[in-house]
Amino acid sequence: MTRVLLTGGTGYIASHTAVALSERGHEVVLLDNFSNSERDVPERLRRLTGKAFPLIEADIRDVPTVTAALSAHPVDAVIHFAALKAVGESEADPLLYYDMNIIGTIRLLQAMQESGVRRIVFSSSATVYGQPDASPIQEDAPTRVQNIYGRTKLVMEDLIRDLARTGKLLAAANLRYFNPVGAHPSAMIGETPRGVPNNLMPYMTQVATGERPHLSVFGDDYDTPDGTGVRDYLHVMDLAEAHALALEHICAHEVSVTVNLGTGIGISVLDLVHAFERATGRKIPLKMSPRRPGDVASNYANPEAAARIFGWKVQRDVDDMCRDAWRWQAARAGINDV
Ligand code: NAD
Ligand code: UFG
Repeated sequence: MTRVLLTGGTGYIASHTAVALSERGHEVVLLDNFSNSERDVPERLRRLTGKAFPLIEADIRDVPTVTAALSAHPVDAVIHFAALKAVGESEADPLLYYDMNIIGTIRLLQAMQESGVRRIVFSSSATVYGQPDASPIQEDAPTRVQNIYGRTKLVMEDLIRDLARTGKLLAAANLRYFNPVGAHPSAMIGETPRGVPNNLMPYMTQVATGERPHLSVFGDDYDTPDGTGVRDYLHVMDLAEAHALALEHICAHEVSVTVNLGTGIGISVLDLVHAFERATGRKIPLKMSPRRPGDVASNYANPEAAARIFGWKVQRDVDDMCRDAWRWQAARAGINDV
């Protein structure tokens, strides 16, 4: 059993990870400033797990408050989710991203150092690979920063690797997520994008509820089997369980690793639309549109390292991802025929 603090603990991926950790017997403490999450998430987690996780409302850049939290709630490790994550916004406001993501991570690491917490699991992203030479992508592929969000992820990874290399951290896992989608099957927690969703699955679920008239397919002339972009979508509960396994591994072996988290299966935009229509019985009106600037044709993981090192294996397929994403969105929209 491990006691672990989740920064960004009421956000999309962290809230699902809290459930997975709790199911495996770990003790969870949540820290969030609610800048991109709903106030009712702790209560939803309590109803879902039967446990009231301690919650600290704080900004990760506030070293005294985070240090006091770690003193009031001593933990073995931190899982660091808190960050800003919108590529477009990062290009519009670079200083905001450097401040929240890089300075935020430095401040968190300082608070951890002051408190003697020396293990971390970090939310990185496949965005660090930029335009890959080929897929599947292995962890030793070159990293290529394409935007400021991606640069902040790479700098945060490097910070963590440097602290591990110099013995300041005992153990660290940099987890490079591919495309997390879906929700807990209970429909009690899920993803709540603010404003117009940037990502395919949340946009599609809002088309299905009738909130948006159609889905724009950004490019149908890529060099892919059906011409649309190929990505590696993975169910957020599989991703959540990977965090529990990563945490257990680094705590047991006091090692540092950098690992992809994806299924290894490339799915095109049209594949995902068809899977969604199959799983939900809802028709998604499409509009073929120009390519979105900065998009790559194809990007999917080689997930063998996560299987070999953590013993992680995905349990859910694309139909589960679509069904659970839809259950969550339908519940929020008050649609009951799901
Ligand atoms: P999210 O926005 O739902 O969760 C982030 C949480 O952090 C939010 O609850 C927000 O309120 C909180 N937060 C932000 N800044 C904070 C600060 N300064 N202090 C305290 N709390 C703060 O995002 P998510 O999708 O759950 O992503 C979690 C992590 O995973 C992020 O680091 C993100 O970059 C990374 N990631 C996400 C994806 C994805 O597709 N969702 C893909 C790759 C990597
Ligand atoms: N797409 C559409 N229509 C939409 C939205 C997306 O056709 O309305 C297409 C995109 O062109 C792409 C695919 O659906 O081919 C997936 O797009 P997403 O925006 O869902 O995901 P990305 O892979 O583009 O981006 C995600 C994260 C980024 C991260 C990147 C690389 O959202 O933050 O993965 O890891 F940088």
